[in-house]
Amino acid sequence: MAAVAIERVGAVAVVVIDNPPVNAASHAVRLGLLDAVAEIDGDPAITAAVVIGAGTTFVAGADIREFGKPLQEPQLPRVLDAIAVCSKPFVAALHGAALGGGFELALGCDARVASPGTIVGLPEVSLGIIPGAGGTQHVPRLVGRIAAIEMICAAKRIAADKALAMGLIDAVAEGDLRSAAVAHAAGMKAKRRLRDLPVPAEDAAAIEAAAQAALKAGRKRPQVQAAIDAVKLSAELPYAAAMVREREIFQQLRNGPEAAALRHLFFAEREAAKVPGMEGAKSREVRRVAVIGAGTMGAGIAMCFIEAGLPVTLVEAEGAALERGMARIRKEYERSVASGKLDAAELERRIARLAPTTELASVKDADLVIEAVFEDMAIKKELFAKLDALAKPGALLATNTSYLDVDEIASATGRPEDVLGLHFFSPANVMRLLEVVRADKTAPEVLATAMAVAKKIRKLPVVARVGDGFIGNRIWGAYRQQTDFMVEDGALPQEVDAAIEGFGFAMGPFAVSDLAGLDIAFRNRRRLDATRDPRARYFEVSDQLCELKRYGQKSGAGWYRYAEGARRGQPDPEVTALVEKASAAKGIRRRAFTAEEIRWRALATMANEAAQLLDEGVAMRASDVDLVLVNGYGFPRHEGGPLFWAARQDPARLGQVLDEIAQSTGHGFRRGDVARWAKKG
Ligand code: 3HC
Repeated sequence: MAAVAIERVGAVAVVVIDNPPVNAASHAVRLGLLDAVAEIDGDPAITAAVVIGAGTTFVAGADIREFGKPLQEPQLPRVLDAIAVCSKPFVAALHGAALGGGFELALGCDARVASPGTIVGLPEVSLGIIPGAGGTQHVPRLVGRIAAIEMICAAKRIAADKALAMGLIDAVAEGDLRSAAVAHAAGMKAKRRLRDLPVPAEDAAAIEAAAQAALKAGRKRPQVQAAIDAVKLSAELPYAAAMVREREIFQQLRNGPEAAALRHLFFAEREAAKVPGMEGAKSREVRRVAVIGAGTMGAGIAMCFIEAGLPVTLVEAEGAALERGMARIRKEYERSVASGKLDAAELERRIARLAPTTELASVKDADLVIEAVFEDMAIKKELFAKLDALAKPGALLATNTSYLDVDEIASATGRPEDVLGLHFFSPANVMRLLEVVRADKTAPEVLATAMAVAKKIRKLPVVARVGDGFIGNRIWGAYRQQTDFMVEDGALPQEVDAAIEGFGFAMGPFAVSDLAGLDIAFRNRRRLDATRDPRARYFEVSDQLCELKRYGQKSGAGWYRYAEGARRGQPDPEVTALVEKASAAKGIRRRAFTAEEIRWRALATMANEAAQLLDEGVAMRASDVDLVLVNGYGFPRHEGGPLFWAARQDPARLGQVLDEIAQSTGHGFRRGDVARWAKKG
């Protein structure tokens, strides 16, 4: 089947792009388009043309799989030039997604007609690049530089009705798209090339303000700055010169390390959805959800579902705690209403989907029950035994545990095949990551259902096997331990945090502990006391801080001291004194650590723990681990995750740092096969 074919409807040529699954503008598509334009140009019987996608979508973008490889001519701008010089008008008929190069192709046509529900946009910055086929030049001509900066820098995906209101498309076709586009094309008497339009005049200060806001929201990443520069060029250079410059910037970024990291994450997300053993499994219908526990986690989880339109039974043992949970949810939405992100009617619709109750028996109507109660095995097992008796046959029974053995929890029921872990991250309604824990007996259709539900609530599900802390918390634990040891050996918490933040994490490990609350990790350590090898190195200062009631931000002091209401702490001499005392008590001669050394130790520790998880089969793929760290733990996206990072380092140096980590950790240190898992792909 040719990637591009021409059909005829009267005097209108319909150019059909057929490159499943998303009609990406691959080399074959570009070649096919060039041929099609030449044929249309040369055929006097044709007066106009429509470009349309076969299947479920228009062109979803350039073929990302071609990036990182040598360029193959013709590139997309040449296709656009061919359309522009062709004497006949071209109409882009959009459905599904018209993104990146796909939307740029549409902008290179003389008009755009879309089906309702189509999304358009230029998401290139999320791939570490800028639009490379005229997006930064055509969009400002249609909507102005300010709107172009806002749209391109935030990688916005815009629905057809909004795109029409903005002027990005010309019409929304309610009926058959192809017929509507053909009629539109037949009615066009002349070309309407965007390149011939002037860029509207706008206030320079307002453009600058939009640029600064976009840069801040885009964490000052280089591609965001480059996109702003390219948009500004639309009013500074003649069209052709600006196009050349856009292309140069695009190509430079395309070949850079950040684009490689973001591409890796793009494909990692798609890969994570594929679960071996789940092929052919039919997912069950989930129409109603029950969440047990109305604390911070339970309330956040309930919000994920009501936001996706699903009714939720929210169960809490005590009436007062239930009311607090309901109030927490309402307050959170009221904040969104106050900031204009949500309308008041939608708030009420969401709240109306919640059925609060103190009766556990109310879970009987739910197709999915998620437990978010206290992190204690005995409590969870007792609850699951009750759920086994109360929940309807075929209901999924999920635990939100962050560490505990899901097999053991499942053993409290007579239906372990229906039990799994759904580990949400806090705040559950905001964080995209969802660890889906596949217990020994979890049925494939239960797993398939969980993956489908995750998609419905717009989460990023990553499957893990049972193991203390699953993927994320296990790596985080190793990393926290190593950063603690560096402090005991001579670094100060604020030095470690600065080094880690310098790498791109939003917060260093000690600031994160203060934010999360030191008591949580304290309780977890007490859980592990019974099984901890007394020969293992142990850093006492974390416990001492809790004994001093320094629980972090919530108590005004933790690793840092916090002024009333402040979110950023100040280094505290009291902590320094505790740390120095702890080192002295063990006879450790404190020494200075460079930021570079701190970073290497921390990152190599993550990679080492990740490799162990893969060796053990807790994680399925290296890319899954990278996704977890990036989406749940603040690992900088532009570094691609710990194993992507490790694959790009000098193996000899990595080995040497792992030796140092082995020495600093001492008894019980285990080495993962980092070389096996950290491969440049
Ligand atoms: N290139 C190559 N493959 C792509 C692709 C692309 N642009 N977009 C999607 N795919 C592949 C996916 O990898 C996946 O492959 P797999 O089945 O082998 O895993 C398959 O298409 C289906 O993708 P999804 O699972 O994401 O399908 P959905 O239906 O959930 O979503 C979508 C469809 C909204 C189109 C989504 O895939 C998407 O957002 N794609 C990326 C769009 C994008 O970023 N485009 C810009 C590219 S850069 C560019 O165009 C540069 C230009 O300026 C020159």
